[in-house]
Amino acid sequence: MALSQGGKTRDGWSSRSAFILAAIGSAVGLGNLWRFPAEAGANGGGAFVLFYILCVLMIGLPILLSETLIGRHGQASAPESVRRVAKASRVSSHWDILASMGVLAAFMILSFYCVVGGWVLYYIGQFMADIFASGVTGGAFEGRPAEEIEALLPNLFGNGILMVGLNALFLGFTLFFVARGVSGGIELVAKWMMPAFFILLIAITVYGAFGGAFSQTVSYLFTFEPEKLTGPVMLAAVGQAFFSLSLGVAGMITYGGYVGRNVNLGSTSAIISSADTAVALLAGLCIFPIVFAAGLSVAAGPGLMFQTLPHAFQEMPTGSVVGLLFFIMVGFAALTSSVALLEVPTAWLIDKFRFVRPVSASIVAGGAMILGALAALSFNELADWHPLDFIPLFAGQGFFDVLDGITAKLLMPIGALLTALFIGWFADRKLVDLENGLGGWLHLFWLFLVRFVCPIALIGILVVGIFPGMFE
Ligand code: PHE
Repeated sequence: MALSQGGKTRDGWSSRSAFILAAIGSAVGLGNLWRFPAEAGANGGGAFVLFYILCVLMIGLPILLSETLIGRHGQASAPESVRRVAKASRVSSHWDILASMGVLAAFMILSFYCVVGGWVLYYIGQFMADIFASGVTGGAFEGRPAEEIEALLPNLFGNGILMVGLNALFLGFTLFFVARGVSGGIELVAKWMMPAFFILLIAITVYGAFGGAFSQTVSYLFTFEPEKLTGPVMLAAVGQAFFSLSLGVAGMITYGGYVGRNVNLGSTSAIISSADTAVALLAGLCIFPIVFAAGLSVAAGPGLMFQTLPHAFQEMPTGSVVGLLFFIMVGFAALTSSVALLEVPTAWLIDKFRFVRPVSASIVAGGAMILGALAALSFNELADWHPLDFIPLFAGQGFFDVLDGITAKLLMPIGALLTALFIGWFADRKLVDLENGLGGWLHLFWLFLVRFVCPIALIGILVVGIFPGMFE
């Protein structure tokens, strides 16, 4: 749909449901399937998961509504939208820093995100090869020992050139859709891929529920042990909430910029965050039973999804087909997110320099390719390069982990903090009241969260997360 803005028309979502699907597509991705289980495992399970859910409800959801509100009011790239809200509120246009930081963060996330997208492509290739070799009836990788299947990922990590190539391929797919535009490209992927993805995820979780270790998983993921809730665990949980909901990187401001005036932002924000959280929890319920049943370590980190799921597919009848379908779905979910990540800096370049869309998108993708290659090589050739060794939060981490850590643990929470302050305290009350789609006590509750709860909680979590030693 073309949205009219000052006499000019701008490409936009074709309907409310198209916006919801695209926003869910942006939110649901590797963050839910790959990062959430890995973070939950590395941070002790239940305490992390329950604090994560609290963060989604009390911080994520109100910020999501604030971001879409800014975008919808501005109808422009993220920094320009912030400036327009600031202007209408008669406050400094320097608040656009919150969105400029977001553009940078989105670019950084895009760079390492497509590296993981490349791993997904590799697994799709492995399952296809398996089907060619041994047909569709048996389990995946039949007759091959479990260790060999777990070794698929380390083997890939050992091959720097292949990783860089797959990264480029995934980035290429992303570029293809972003270059085609909002309604003709971004919307198209989301509309077809997200529903299919949901169905398959539920099917595999149900299968896992009958495969044993399910009750162990439920108690692992939902038992609250207060002593495990340390500063760093809280920072990891809030970072994961933002990563998963695509917040603090101007992503939802950008997507909000393509929303029509008639859409109720309050209810759509609730739908988007519920869907995203449901997928993260489903992913946990799908992956951990297999981890426990196979006696693997929950702290396996980035390898968790890639190394555990093939176990399930090995025992399943027609497992190679199910496995192939599953990784194709993961690829789709990742693609609808990487498309959002590429769109943020692309929209900014279009606005700022008046480049045409394909040129803007290609420039950003080219930059992300270079940064992404460094991230991919940090698993092999550059494994000993720890760029931020002098900062305790990032000590001993390679470039991939540093990109992930800087964005999720610093840039996203800080971006969200500024958004809460801007909308809660500086933006014009009438503008906000009219445009948030909430009424009555819900409106007051949201205002209370944005004004008090979000800023105080975020400052607190940032401090205890960055300086855990201070409180011992
Ligand atoms: N939310 C996406 C995921 O969970 C990642 C993402 C972050 C996408 C920020 C856009 C913006 O995979």
